[in-house]
Amino acid sequence: MSEETSKSQGVLYVGIDLGTSRTSVAASNGIRATLPSFVGYPKDVIARKLLQKDVLYGDEAVAKRLSLNLYRPLEHGVLKCGEEGGDLDTDGNTRAARDLLLEAVRLAQPRKDELVYAVIGAPAQANINSKNAILKVAKESVDSAMLCSEPFAVAYGQDMLEDVLVIDIGAGTVDLCRMHGTMPEESDQLTMTTAGDHVDKELTRRISEAYPEAQFTVQMIKQIKERHSTVAERPSPIKVSLPVNGKPTEFDVTEQVTGACRSIVPPIVEGLGKLIGSFDPEFQQRLKDRVLLAGGGSQIKALDTAIELEMHRLLGSGKVLLIEEPMYGGANGALKIAHDMPAEFWEKLK
Ligand SMILES: Nc1ncnc2c1ncn2[C@@H]1O[C@H](COP(=O)(O)OP(=O)(O)OP(=O)(O)O)[C@@H](O)[C@H]1O
Ligand SMILES: [Mg+2]
Repeated sequence: MSEETSKSQGVLYVGIDLGTSRTSVAASNGIRATLPSFVGYPKDVIARKLLQKDVLYGDEAVAKRLSLNLYRPLEHGVLKCGEEGGDLDTDGNTRAARDLLLEAVRLAQPRKDELVYAVIGAPAQANINSKNAILKVAKESVDSAMLCSEPFAVAYGQDMLEDVLVIDIGAGTVDLCRMHGTMPEESDQLTMTTAGDHVDKELTRRISEAYPEAQFTVQMIKQIKERHSTVAERPSPIKVSLPVNGKPTEFDVTEQVTGACRSIVPPIVEGLGKLIGSFDPEFQQRLKDRVLLAGGGSQIKALDTAIELEMHRLLGSGKVLLIEEPMYGGANGALKIAHDMPAEFWEKLK
């Protein structure tokens, strides 16, 4: 601890994973925090008076959404910015992104006298414009910032930078990235939409087909998924209560939940196959043996085993490592990069 303190005296290092659905932060003071990536502003004077706040974040913003102008400022980890002539509220989204970052830094509880140095994970395929947009916004909340590619951060956090395949299952996208000791390039990546939101849609479809009388919202379906998600061969029965004409009724949704969760396995393994098949044949086996599974969606029970089985079927073999703290994989890795970065790399923003 003492060595650590002397090295970083006066500086709080933070790793930030700016996700479409969640923003997570890990800091050198040991704090870890996460919040849904929502920012809301009271719609009018009445709402302002009722809420007693100018800005609301995360779960609270979602709960009070009827009184708020609600923003989810990121899209696939990239700042939502309208194309020219588009009707997207660019100013609003930029302000929301700035406030979201400010809140993330606040959650890391820097002392008043501490400088904040942040490494922010952005999707590997983010283009230079969106990277600059994020950096510009970051300027207002931290003293120095740098961006890193998200899968790179995950792999760095595990000390696995060579011949690794990273699978990051988020809400909107699954990002596959091949690492071979350098920064990943365009050809090392694949992005697919068979992620968490896709599972929610599948589960909705399956439950409404099996039980047309059941009443529910997407939010309820998402909660059911997050509570019971599994791709186990023989899962214990999953029973949930859903209203029928206002009366709570019990439904067995075991088949629906496992079916919806399983639907993401084949496309992921197909994607892995593409990244493996186009790699140096000598190292293909090594890649197959080093697959890292991260992101909120990786918390589906037995998903690592299911992916391994499908890899065996399609690719002959495969070994999948589930990272610890999957929700913090990006933030923890970004924090580690921050720690290891020599001082001259930290560009002063202020
Ligand atoms: N226990 C769980 N089982 C299955 N899915 C889960 C579980 N917990 C969270 N999720 C899902 O994980 C997804 C969010 O993951 P994550 O926080 O990594 O996304 P993100 O990084 O914000 O999104 P993106 O990568 O698309 O920008 C959501 O779809 C959520 O429903
Ligand atoms: Mg993510």
